[in-house]
Amino acid sequence: MVFPGTFLGVWNLLQISGRESVASISPAWLQAHGHAQVFGWVGSFILGIGFYSIPKMRGGVKSSFAMAWACWGMWTTGAALRWAANVYLWEWRILLPISACLELAAFLIFFRGVSQHRSADSDKKKLDPWIWVVVSASLGLLSVLVTNALGCFYVTFRSATPAFPHVFDQRYLALMAWGFMVPFVWGFSAKWMTVFLGLKPLRTPWLLSAVAINLGGLGLAVAGEAAIGSWLFVLGAACAIVALRMFESSENEPKIRGVHSTFPLFVRMAYGWLLIAAVLGVAATRWDTSGGIWGASRHALTVGFISVMILSVGQRILPAFAGMRMLWSTKLMFVGLAFVTLGCTLRVSCEVLAYQGYAAWAWSVLPISALCELAGLTVYAINILGTFILEPSHSQKQAMVVGVPIKIS
Ligand code: HEM
Repeated sequence: MVFPGTFLGVWNLLQISGRESVASISPAWLQAHGHAQVFGWVGSFILGIGFYSIPKMRGGVKSSFAMAWACWGMWTTGAALRWAANVYLWEWRILLPISACLELAAFLIFFRGVSQHRSADSDKKKLDPWIWVVVSASLGLLSVLVTNALGCFYVTFRSATPAFPHVFDQRYLALMAWGFMVPFVWGFSAKWMTVFLGLKPLRTPWLLSAVAINLGGLGLAVAGEAAIGSWLFVLGAACAIVALRMFESSENEPKIRGVHSTFPLFVRMAYGWLLIAAVLGVAATRWDTSGGIWGASRHALTVGFISVMILSVGQRILPAFAGMRMLWSTKLMFVGLAFVTLGCTLRVSCEVLAYQGYAAWAWSVLPISALCELAGLTVYAINILGTFILEPSHSQKQAMVVGVPIKIS
């Protein structure tokens, strides 16, 4: 799911750099890229780990496979239809609403699946704070999906193209970033990072304050008060970092068995990108004249924070989730993360310089940044595929030990 959106992003950036203008590119193509990345890739990842881990952590009951497959089918079809309709414009007035309804239905199946399983034990226990953060992010995702459906019906009946109107799109993007993706990462960081990085215990009141401040910022941004809202995003991100104790010295050894030893460094860098994204958001409200500072802020968040977290945490947990496998290659893990980080650094800095007209040479760096990001995400996908296809699962290893012939497929 990472490829359709990434290829389109690279293609768009090559065109923008060639013409030295973002205005000449079809907004429907830009939005097709954003949708494919956020729903197709990030969304699938979050739904997947949610289906696997939330019922397990809440009481050890497995969620239904039928539900998970139904959700996956609808979600993937919805994301694919949106990509195709925006890019080829074929029957988009019909496909857009269908795609939005499929995605909404898939989410409702997910929400039902992960919220209905409770053991008697978990009924008595209070829910952990991280679960509340994930619940707030799930409600954020629901709001994004409802807004997306409204937008799709609006353009179907009122617009000449499948692209959302600019102002609506900007507010919808704020909801997507700060209402859905960011709190999801905070929630799962609160659950896992203390152990994975050996951090000192979580400061729960700070985390809940971060969520509340972030929600305040989001309310303001969606209401059109981004100049004040963006300051609250900075404050919320800083509180989350203080809560997680991300930049404090570790209390225990980080758990890096099976992953590259730079794993803790990249997770910390991701939180650095979160701060950069928030600060660039403030700068964008004051100085952006070209979409370049907004674009830089958005990609510091989506590539620097979200993608680096997925590449780091994904390669840490997915092999274990998929039958206790080992990661295929820790070196590839490092190479992928290094490429994405390099690409993101070049992209974020040069997007501001080029789009704003501060330095013409920066246009020629942007294609390199896109290819580095593409290389990093491709290496990640290869490593995950290698892990699932070539590495034996725990049961396959056990069968090998007792001498039962098995087929590794
Ligand atoms: C290979 C890496 C990527 C490239 C080359 C790329 C390129 C682009 C370009 C050229 C734009 C148009 C606006 C601008 O000029 O800034 C854009 C917008 C966007 N990108 Fe990316 N991107 C990449 C990765 C990602 C990832 C990983 C995500 C999400 C996880 C993402 C989410 C978005 C969103 C949400 C938009 C806004 C779309 C809209 O205007 O509605 N991008 N990207």
